[in-house]
Amino acid sequence: MTTIAIDPDTCSKCGTCIEICALGLIMKGKGNMPFMPDEVEAFCTKCGNCEAFCPEGAILPEYDTRYPTLSEEARQDITAGSLGLYMRQRRSVRNYQDKIVDRETIEDIIDIVRYAPSGMNNQPVHWLIVHDPAQVRKLAHITIDWMRSIMDSGIEHPLKPILPSLIAAYDNGKDPICRGAPHVAIAYAAAANPMAYTDSLIALSWFELAAPAFGLGACWAGFLKIAASYCQELKDELGLPEGHEVQYAMMFGYPKYKVYGIPGREPARITWK
Ligand SMILES: Cc1cc2nc3c(=O)[nH]c(=O)nc-3n(C[C@H](O)[C@H](O)[C@H](O)COP(=O)(O)O)c2cc1C
Repeated sequence: MTTIAIDPDTCSKCGTCIEICALGLIMKGKGNMPFMPDEVEAFCTKCGNCEAFCPEGAILPEYDTRYPTLSEEARQDITAGSLGLYMRQRRSVRNYQDKIVDRETIEDIIDIVRYAPSGMNNQPVHWLIVHDPAQVRKLAHITIDWMRSIMDSGIEHPLKPILPSLIAAYDNGKDPICRGAPHVAIAYAAAANPMAYTDSLIALSWFELAAPAFGLGACWAGFLKIAASYCQELKDELGLPEGHEVQYAMMFGYPKYKVYGIPGREPARITWK
């Protein structure tokens, strides 16, 4: 059985799928009918580009898809101007309303995020959504306790110079770890997968970018991620499946404040050759 199934009645034999296949696994067969030989089937990453670029929709979907063919309306380009404005408006949100984001909304965001690119279409990212705000507070508490233990020990750690101010802020009733966010999204993956870190960062970037379209704000939780790499108590609390580790984390929720402007940034550093 071959991985891709092409409907011979609708295929126009245009050869686009043959050109599109990233690994060159689709070949011209009898009467120019494209096919994937059985012996290369194992190399197919199921990226679906042959399906996406087939003008006739003649290639049967590998996965269930809501969009086997796109309507003219759905194919309409978003303008560079509106996309640029949307993306530039993204801010790290560190102040949140005391309001729960319903699971359905979070699932809708992750349903977009699962379309993010991944090396070899490996799709290694799993999600742990810490939905209970009390659990989020507990993660922040464990992280601060871990920071205290670093300060109390002779351990050298690159974070050490900034830990006293984080601990002091926490002791003064602030949450410098999860910023009082109601929820945290943790992208985790098999520890043995060397590609998973990059894929997880891409997925979380998509999460952060998608959030404002749902009225939400997010912020990378770097301190939480670092603690999750070292602190056994935090690992135990997260309880990821055996052999899996936190790749990165992001706090999110309904923002307390609106964005009224877009701050500047360094000019782009580009070298042309
Ligand atoms: C990998 C990474 C880790 C981060 N960790 C934290 C964090 O732990 N706490 C925090 O308040 N902001 C964190 N940030 C947010 C950055 O401080 C923020 O992106 C930067 O100041 C630029 O602001 P902007 O995101 O609003 O453009 C992190 C950002 C990245 C990309």
